[in-house]
Amino acid sequence: MSTYAIQTLGCQMNERDSETIAGLLEQMGYIESADYEDADVIVVNTCSVRENADNRFFGILGRLKHVKTNRADAIVAVCGCMMQQEHITEQIHEKHAWVDIIFGTHNIGALPELIEKIVGGRKGKPLTSVLTERASMGEGLPVRRELSFKASVNIMYGCNNFCTYCIVPYTRGREISRSADDIIAEVRDAAAAGAKEILLLGQNVNSYNGDGIDFADLISMADEVPGIERIRFTTSHPKDLSSKLIDRFGPVKKGGAATLCPSIHLPVQAGSDKVLERMNRRYTKEGYIALVESLRAARPDIVITTDFIVGFPGETEEDFGETMDLIERVRFDSAFTFIYSPRTGTPAAGYDDPTPEDVKHERFDRMVRRLNEITLEKNRAYVGSVQDVLVEGRSKTDAAMLSGRTFGGKLVNFPALASVPASAPEHDASIIGAILPVRIASVKTFSFTGELL
Ligand code: SAH
Ligand code: SF4
Ligand code: F3S
Repeated sequence: MSTYAIQTLGCQMNERDSETIAGLLEQMGYIESADYEDADVIVVNTCSVRENADNRFFGILGRLKHVKTNRADAIVAVCGCMMQQEHITEQIHEKHAWVDIIFGTHNIGALPELIEKIVGGRKGKPLTSVLTERASMGEGLPVRRELSFKASVNIMYGCNNFCTYCIVPYTRGREISRSADDIIAEVRDAAAAGAKEILLLGQNVNSYNGDGIDFADLISMADEVPGIERIRFTTSHPKDLSSKLIDRFGPVKKGGAATLCPSIHLPVQAGSDKVLERMNRRYTKEGYIALVESLRAARPDIVITTDFIVGFPGETEEDFGETMDLIERVRFDSAFTFIYSPRTGTPAAGYDDPTPEDVKHERFDRMVRRLNEITLEKNRAYVGSVQDVLVEGRSKTDAAMLSGRTFGGKLVNFPALASVPASAPEHDASIIGAILPVRIASVKTFSFTGELL
């Protein structure tokens, strides 16, 4: 039997793409390899959002070169967001010409053909197939989902926002929505295969438009699919967050959706209006705070998370002070924080950036410290409460513990029942993939510890 292995860098969209790649390879008769470097077909699905993502890829390439030296007939295919940039594919052609296949984000369905060509005889340079825009919606491609009980479903591709720091509009092309019928058909298929939780994916789900059906309506449609108990979505751009969508978080009798999780990831990036404008985010600090207030009015227990970029070109101490003030006023449940990383081809890469690196790092540390304090303070409110937890599997750090997520998305670890030994099969359906009540005993910044009731 021939085998495959896929390494995925980057966001949930890449993870979902890798599930399609796995589906395609299994349709060709490949089976998943237990060991990445032993596989007959090795795929790296790349991300380019920050420089360290690019660097990780080049590190992986270094290791794969050894694999190729030892096993010349192993096929190495590289894909994903990095491959949509000419300066990267040129670099691979020049310096890593032993790579067999380069393909892009818009033509994943071409992989089987590309592999067959390589199996039929390699022509020397990497076989390259990258499109600048999506030629088809790619409906009907197979999928091999990582987890049966939790399914990611793309609702749209690409992004039209061109935030000045961001590479995604260049790597993922123009925004295009899938038809609501195709999306709901995929949700039904996933539910039939055991999915309880659905994650609706897009770079800006709030601007979804499937032939006149907007995102709030799409949630209502997914809410009605039998078997689906939790709906999440990501990512939500503040400028397009409608009051209709906010109402969906509200009481069910007033038009809400029973299965919509009380959580929203609402990237703010910065608190200074000057910086937000130079980022081309198209909202203000006060506008953002007003959205948070409406969300909390609709659903007091909503978990609000965000992203920050520290050290955007020209960010002054005063600008940074606005971000710190926003943090005090909003009190996020948690946040991802990034130091600005210039991306070739984006407008901000050409902006003047006089702030020294050590100043940026000092701001970053100050911010993370305060964010973590607030997260811990907010988490303390959960101690003693009983939360419904969708159990995802064994804890990554302690096999005697199971871990899962609350309706709001908080991570909970709890001891496995004595009746379920640590060696119990991961697919024990009475526990893994079930939604079970857990009493929260103690909390840390990034997780809760509880006890199964
Ligand atoms: N579509 C999503 C974001 C996708 S990228 C949205 O608009 O919310 C995920 C996060 O990476 C962004 O929210 C931003 O905080 C960060 N990011 C993107 N480009 C970056 C860059 N050049 N440097 C540092 N962080 C960046
Ligand atoms: Fe990037 Fe902005 Fe699009 Fe998000 S909305 S993917 S940050 S350009
Ligand atoms: Fe990275 Fe592409 Fe996602 S650049 S963050 S994998 S859309």
